[in-house]
Amino acid sequence: MSEKSNSTVTRTTRTHTCGELGINHLNLSVNLCGWVSKRRDHGGLIFIDLRDRYGLTQIVFDPATSSINEGFATAERLRSEYVVWVKGTVRSRPQGMENANLVTGKIEVLCSDVVILSEAKTPPFPIEDDVDVAEQLRLEYRYLDLRRPYLQKNLITRHKMLQIVRQHLDENQFIEVETPILYKSTPEGARDFIVPSRLNPGTFYALPQSPQTLKQLLMISGMDRYFQIARCFRDEDLRADRQPEFSQIDIETSFMDEEALFPILETMIQKLWKQLLNVDIPRPFPKMAYSEAMNRFGSDKPDVRFGLELQDISSIFATSTFQVFSNALAPNARGIKGSIRAIVVHELAEKFSRKDLDDLTKHVAGYGAKGLLWIKIQPDGEMQSPAAKFFTPEEKANLNAALKLKPGSLVMIVADKNKVVYDSLGALRLELGAKLGLIPKPEEKKFSFLWVVNFPLLEFDDKEGRYFACHHPFTSPRPEFFEDFIQGKNMDAIEASAYDMVLNGVEVGGGSLRIYRSDVQSAMFKLLGITPEEAKHKFGFFLEALQYGTPPHGGLAFGVDRLAALICGVGPIRDVMAFPKTQKGHDLMASTPSEVTKEQLQELSVMVVKPQKATS
Ligand code: AMO
Ligand code: AMP
Repeated sequence: MSEKSNSTVTRTTRTHTCGELGINHLNLSVNLCGWVSKRRDHGGLIFIDLRDRYGLTQIVFDPATSSINEGFATAERLRSEYVVWVKGTVRSRPQGMENANLVTGKIEVLCSDVVILSEAKTPPFPIEDDVDVAEQLRLEYRYLDLRRPYLQKNLITRHKMLQIVRQHLDENQFIEVETPILYKSTPEGARDFIVPSRLNPGTFYALPQSPQTLKQLLMISGMDRYFQIARCFRDEDLRADRQPEFSQIDIETSFMDEEALFPILETMIQKLWKQLLNVDIPRPFPKMAYSEAMNRFGSDKPDVRFGLELQDISSIFATSTFQVFSNALAPNARGIKGSIRAIVVHELAEKFSRKDLDDLTKHVAGYGAKGLLWIKIQPDGEMQSPAAKFFTPEEKANLNAALKLKPGSLVMIVADKNKVVYDSLGALRLELGAKLGLIPKPEEKKFSFLWVVNFPLLEFDDKEGRYFACHHPFTSPRPEFFEDFIQGKNMDAIEASAYDMVLNGVEVGGGSLRIYRSDVQSAMFKLLGITPEEAKHKFGFFLEALQYGTPPHGGLAFGVDRLAALICGVGPIRDVMAFPKTQKGHDLMASTPSEVTKEQLQELSVMVVKPQKATS
């Protein structure tokens, strides 16, 4: 902050912030503004820590100071979170009283004048980084929570991150274009939030789940390289890394394939990590096929920083009489077989009690596993397991060899259809990784970026009996699968030109090359069970646009909140959002969502039919 002459400032403005004064400012007369963080009365002397977003400065009120006069009485009235203006002189702290943890810890300001700019009610919780207060309460008073240095630091880092992103994309000829929020359904796999139109009774806008169709239309417009820090809205089940509204760094390009696009994205990540964390990220980022990610880690967003990889033991038990195994390997109605896979930890079997194993079984049950079969290798090499009696000597020998089992090994097995096996063992791997302390802590600053590529184009939903797009319905099959796709052959095996950027087990971004032929796009809608009428109603404008000269195009969107959380080293993304919502989609501060008046509903031609209470 520039140093203004004191004579020009009023008693509401400052010459310096609370984070910048040091030894080189000694004897300077300064004006500071901020919040009273702490007030200590030391028999005659009063100390306060004055806080603003730049830091803390210690202010001293000494009744012996000739000019303080009634200012001392004011100081006696100061309470936590009062907003004050102080005028004073910078002096060094007495020897032994320095605070090495504070940038301003070598100095203090001896106050000669003080004004209370605002009084404050006693806050419902202390404004400190180590507050031990229910998050509910902090969310209710989010504006107070946001005074905590921890959250302020996160928001500032997020801001810096977006500045670096904007600059990088600008330097690479990307144009920032804003697209509408009141729009039409843009399918990304979640439900839409809809907004009734007063001017057009009975019709609704949908809030975009992403600007997907809009950014593709911009490619048809010839924009060539687009980006937007875009708000996205998705009505889906919320988790620590999912909010109903969130931001994307949304990117689309024409005439580029992965080979051309990835370097631009990777160098952006490199800049972010270098400038914000002083960490060098090597590139090119490794690529891993989706199938490899699933086979080895049971996840399409693998945390590759530790082992505990999945092992396929289906072939060992191909003729097993154990029903759990034989059921899993039997083909389903569509001729698709499941598998039997295992995770092994060595030398630790006796550390896992029955209760531990029961807990892990409950954990995998949450992912659809009907059980978790365990085998412990005893000191004499014998297998102890609830299913040991079903294993033939040959199966035992093959298992020993395949999994390199030795006394102390613990094998955990799930046998089911592949989706359940992957989901449950993928989750078990993370749970075990955490339990065994194998997952590096954020402060270790271990960052393993990779691309997961060659996703399947389609996913068959057994319950609904139809295909869904794995990414979204605008994603192109990989060129070598084009013929099969057009002819409707081998649909389960078709791979997409889709890719995710993954960091430490988090999907930070995802994208694809797009379908740019309207007949292929129509075929995709048909395959997804969207009737021609529905396609026309929902995407008619888009199918029409594809017919007016569409360049080959593709792009990706990063989750701003997830990237910021990883850079800040925090878990839940709400810690990098100013006003996040709870798991139930509530804003506790503004009590939203909330009812509206009858008049408003009438104006909107909307009638509310409340769900009937479930009868018990
Ligand atoms: P996708 O749906 O994979 O792709 O989203 C891209 C990235 O956005 C982030 N993200 C979220 N962050 C917080 N809360 C959520 N509810 C949430 N949902 C997604 C993730 C994810 O990787 N239009 C495509 C992109 C494209 O194809 O170009 C899209 O939205 O980090
Ligand atoms: P059951 O025959 O159901 O008593 O199961 C015998 C053992 O197999 C128990 O330890 C179960 O936890 C386990 N189990 C059951 N279903 C599965 C499954 N699909 N995959 C792995 N283990 C299972």
